[in-house]
Formats: sequence, C-alpha cells, structure tokens
Amino acid sequence: MQKPAGLLLNYGYQGVLSTIDALIDRRDIVVYDSECHACIIDGLRMHMGKRFVYPHNDIENLEKQLVRATKLAEETGGGILVITEGVFGMTGNMGDLKGIVALKEQFEFRLLVDDAHGYGTLGATGAGAGEEQGVQDQIDVYFSTFAKSMAGIGAFVAGEPEIMEYLKFNMRSQIFAKSLPLPFVKGMLKRLELLRSKPELKDKLWEIASGLQNGLKDRGFNIGTTQSCVTPVYLKGGVGEAAVLAMDLRENYNIFCSVVIYPVVPKDVILLRLIPTAAHSLDDVQQTLEAFSAIKGKLDAGEYQKAELAQEMMMA
Ligand SMILES: Cc1ncc(COP(=O)(O)O)c(C=O)c1O
Repeated sequence: MQKPAGLLLNYGYQGVLSTIDALIDRRDIVVYDSECHACIIDGLRMHMGKRFVYPHNDIENLEKQLVRATKLAEETGGGILVITEGVFGMTGNMGDLKGIVALKEQFEFRLLVDDAHGYGTLGATGAGAGEEQGVQDQIDVYFSTFAKSMAGIGAFVAGEPEIMEYLKFNMRSQIFAKSLPLPFVKGMLKRLELLRSKPELKDKLWEIASGLQNGLKDRGFNIGTTQSCVTPVYLKGGVGEAAVLAMDLRENYNIFCSVVIYPVVPKDVILLRLIPTAAHSLDDVQQTLEAFSAIKGKLDAGEYQKAELAQEMMMA
C-alpha cells in the first residue's frame, strides 16, 4: 500500500466504524462526502463532536466546510478528519482524492480513505485510487476490505506507524471481538501474493470490465460516469418490475447481479450493478450484453408489469 505500517482487521464494516471511533474525540471535527458508505455514516453516528458534510465530490463546498471546521477546531483545540472513498460503490466514480489533498496546502487535516473498491483494481500496482490519482502518499489512513478484489473476509488499515500503533490499542472492534481466524489470514496472504505476482489478473479484469462497459454503451445503455470496474446500468422502471426483471435475468439468462431500487435510487429508476471479475471471459461479456438487450426490450415493452409473468417464472 506504499505505507510504512498496517493493521489487520477482523471485518470491514466494523473496521471502518471503529477506526473512526478511535481516531476522533468530542473536540475533533469530521468533514465527509455525502455519498459515503453506511459504515462511515455509522462510525460518525458515534461521534460526539461536530461533523460537516459536503456534496459528493464538490471540492469547492469541501473548502467551505474546512473553513468552518478550522474555525471550530481553533475553539475546541481538536483536529479535523476528512473522510471519503476511493471508489463509490454505487456509481463506480472515484472520490476526487487529488482535489482533496490539494487543500492540504491551505488547511490542516488528516485524510481517511475507504478504498474498498479501488484496492487491487486501480493504480499501477493495484494500490488503489490513491495510486491511480498519484496521491497515495497524501492519504493518512488508508482502509480497504478484503471483500472485493480479494473475494474474502477481513480488512486492513495502513498509514504511519504511530497511527497504527494507536489504533492497535484503541479499536474497540479489534479488542472486544474475535480477530480474523487464521485460515482466513492464510487465504488472504495467498491472495495478496497473487495480486503482487500476477499483474495479468488485474489486466484481465480491466479487459473484461472495458469490454462490458464499452459494449453496454455501444448498445445505448446508460452506465453513468463510472471510473472503475463497478458497472452500474440505469434503467427506467418501478420496484415491481425490478423484482421480475432480476428473476428473469437469473433464472432464464443465468446472470446474477445486484439490483438497487427505491429508496436508494428514485422510484422510477432500476439500477443493476454489474461487477466484472478476472474470472469472467469475453464470452461471458457477450452473453451479458445479449441478455441485457433482451431484458431491456422486455422492460420497455411493459412485459415485467404483467403479474402473471412473474407467476409463470416462479413455477418454471
Ligand atoms: C466502501 C465500503 N466500505 C466498507 C465495506 C464493508 O466491508 P465488509 O463487507 O468487509 O464488512 C463495504 C462493503 O462491503 C464497502 O463497500
């Protein structure tokens, strides 16, 4: 991770929550991106001091929040922690880490980045979104779970040795819960070795991801502005249609993907989130593209509105 020290964590969600809890006290001020993952929000729920949110990736607004935070920190005697993500898991957009670290010239703050989706997939060596944007050394506390590129359980934080040493003795999720079982640790070490010794895996992942994303765009699908392997497909339709569509995809086209519906997205939007992997093939991509064209045709024709179709599918 290009960091001098790191700490193995038992779980990702609890890891983020507890890292935030350990790093800040009531005098400190947190400034965070509005689209941060639930584990960050839940960590902030425990914070007894002030927190300011800035609209997603809006660096101009972040600057305003930092002015407020700096003023307040002078009164409380605390510090400022800025929190964002390397890659936002719903849209696939990267956090504007470059824009954030540029503000370090004007303001004094520490930067915590949850790079769950960037780790192993972005940057020349797979060190993530910070490496991709050339600012890895400016991330003070780097976090990733093993749940994405390493397809496992567990997580880690990395940064300066004194911060890691402090976290080691102050993270409640590590002290009061079981540590990551050793068979998992062994498995994760093997995966780390593969990430390091087989860069072709990352190249393959991007070949698949690019094939999928370009193919979807060529077929007229709206995939937003993803900058990562996370591939969202935005369709127009209701919640009921989303359920039938997902079942049709799974049962009749052999494609599993997560379906995001209201209230995460507006009521008339269906967000299908595709996660390509290095284990997929270009044939899989082709099959997916054809299936997506087929289900889009059915959705537009109103077929998923018919309740009896759902019934038929359940019986099949
Ligand atoms: C951005 C982000 N942070 C943290 C987590 C939580 O990690 P874990 O599933 O390992 O608990 C997730 C989801 O898995 C995530 O997407």
